[in-house]
Amino acid sequence: MSNYHIKNLEEYFQIYRKSVRDPEGFWEEIAEEHFLWRKRWDRVLSWDFTKPEVKWFEGAQLNITENCIDRHLAIRGNKTAILFEPNDPNEVAQHITYKQLHTQVNKMANVLKGQGIQKGDRVCIYLPMIPELAYAVLACARIGAVHSVVFAGFSSVALATRINDCNAAVVLTADGSFRGNKSIDLKGIVDKALEDCPQVKSVLVAERVGNNIQMVEGRDHFMAPLVQAASAECQVEVMNAEDPLFILYTSGSTGKPKGMVHSCAGYMIYAAYTFKNIFQYQENDVYWCTADIGWITGHSYIVYGPLANGATTVMFEGVPSYPDFGRFWQIVEKHKVNQFYTAPTAIRALAKEKIDFVDQYDLSSLKVLGTVGEPINEEAWHWYNDHIGKKESPIVDTWWQTETGGIMISPIPYSTPTKPTFATLPFIGIQPALMDENGQELQANQVDGRLCIKFPWPSMARTIWGDHDRYRDTYFSAYPKMYFTGDGASRDAVGYYRITGRVDDVIIVSGHNLGTAPIEDAINEHQGVAESAIVGFPHDIKGNALFGYVILKDDALNRDSDSLRTEINSLIADKIGPIAKLDNIAFVPGLPKTRSGKIMRRILRKIAQKDVSNLGDTSTLLNPDVVDQIRKIIGV
Ligand code: WT7
Repeated sequence: MSNYHIKNLEEYFQIYRKSVRDPEGFWEEIAEEHFLWRKRWDRVLSWDFTKPEVKWFEGAQLNITENCIDRHLAIRGNKTAILFEPNDPNEVAQHITYKQLHTQVNKMANVLKGQGIQKGDRVCIYLPMIPELAYAVLACARIGAVHSVVFAGFSSVALATRINDCNAAVVLTADGSFRGNKSIDLKGIVDKALEDCPQVKSVLVAERVGNNIQMVEGRDHFMAPLVQAASAECQVEVMNAEDPLFILYTSGSTGKPKGMVHSCAGYMIYAAYTFKNIFQYQENDVYWCTADIGWITGHSYIVYGPLANGATTVMFEGVPSYPDFGRFWQIVEKHKVNQFYTAPTAIRALAKEKIDFVDQYDLSSLKVLGTVGEPINEEAWHWYNDHIGKKESPIVDTWWQTETGGIMISPIPYSTPTKPTFATLPFIGIQPALMDENGQELQANQVDGRLCIKFPWPSMARTIWGDHDRYRDTYFSAYPKMYFTGDGASRDAVGYYRITGRVDDVIIVSGHNLGTAPIEDAINEHQGVAESAIVGFPHDIKGNALFGYVILKDDALNRDSDSLRTEINSLIADKIGPIAKLDNIAFVPGLPKTRSGKIMRRILRKIAQKDVSNLGDTSTLLNPDVVDQIRKIIGV
């Protein structure tokens, strides 16, 4: 039995028990046998969840790109590392071999060095899903620069906030991005963002769409000529295990995004080990994750996890609906994809279309199907299982977070019996706990509680960039000596976990994690708005949609409601991005508040769901009348 590759349920339980009984011994063996080190560690783990401080493989030295690229050259040099599928199906796919990846990453690394980037410097990457994005990420890692990828759907304001928070000196972008039959002016967004980022010294621009863009003299440079002139050799920077590898921002309960910091060694080991087992990747498989590299799913399961295993990873530039709703399945057939990993929101959207879009393609290559990002409802699960997997490919419902770096709860396909809507069992090394309202751990099965993790795992985020106190307060203060996930979960009779959703002020819309506070901040900037509150409500495709309750200032009361709604949504699109737009906006005279002034979101949620059967006792509110007024306005 190899601990690195779990082959059946019995092995899963054996290895799991070992990983809990002797976590250090267990992870040491994985680290020793499957990765390349420049120097061995002095200590496997030291931790203290009160500070909180967690260190894995302290004293060790490595470079993640040696593990993801260099070590494969001798045996897999001509194997496809990245299979790039363009937006337009008529444009040829690119098979980028490990050798070519090595060359491109080295060149990009030298270009970054040429811009003065050194170990520890932050580089902001605002690129579409084109090969340069993967090269840029790996180039940073190669020279020890800390990459901060910002999803190229975020607005200029959101981009500027992230650039400034980590004080990035260089921004990488493109002249535009293709999204179906549209193209988006990324460079224009960067130009606007940089009006607020005086420290940015240079912008490197990949040419993708051929847009006519403005180049700022002395600041902006086209990437291609620099890459062409750069050397194809670049020594790796030898990194300490705990050096930061990247920052990735996620929404929180205040307006400011949280820059989650992941470190080199632990992240690498956990991303690689989970990838191997949760997708049961075999040497000649073609694996495809449809996420964007701008999210953690793309970091861990398009780039680092697959490449650390010498896999072939598909990178898709486009969208599921272009040129038609068969695009995903056409790609599966074309590249004979073996493992397919996507989000419930995509499944729900595709399930609404004619089944012809699926049935005209040969999907027999598929062996494993995955979902991530939000709870998958039973109907979508069955559609995925019946029509895509033909009841033969197990579905791995993988629960995890930006903060966790890798998948935490998931079936092992062909080992763990699946159960619709259940993420099933903790992965190797993960020790979950369900907590009750009094902060006690629920020991039994068949319980509901708040999901915590009791013991460190290698890929946990180490801090929030520049704000360790916030890291402690957000994740380690709700329950002493535990990592609190922000999610609710239940455990069934056999110990399977089902994630029921967020229990904080984060709402997951189409798999995107959105904080209510930043959206409210954006709305409140509207001249006519006095106050606002956002809640989520169930939506057929997006999982949740956003409902905004807005109190207008007196002088805006007689303005046209529809134009106000449009203005509010475009303000949100400007400040955050189109993904955060509201589906519903109600203008209300007040918001239900407790005597201490806290908005009672529970009531607002119920009203938004049009379910007022159980509003609870509203008499203790500061302003009980407002509930009836709001109901009347909304008509529930
Ligand atoms: C939140 C984290 C990690 C990948 C993408 C999202 C929700 C994630 C599942 C799942 C139910 C899920 C949780 C979590 N979530 N996967 N399989 N079942 N909920 O990363 O943006 O950091 O969001 O996504 O609520 O806390 P993220």
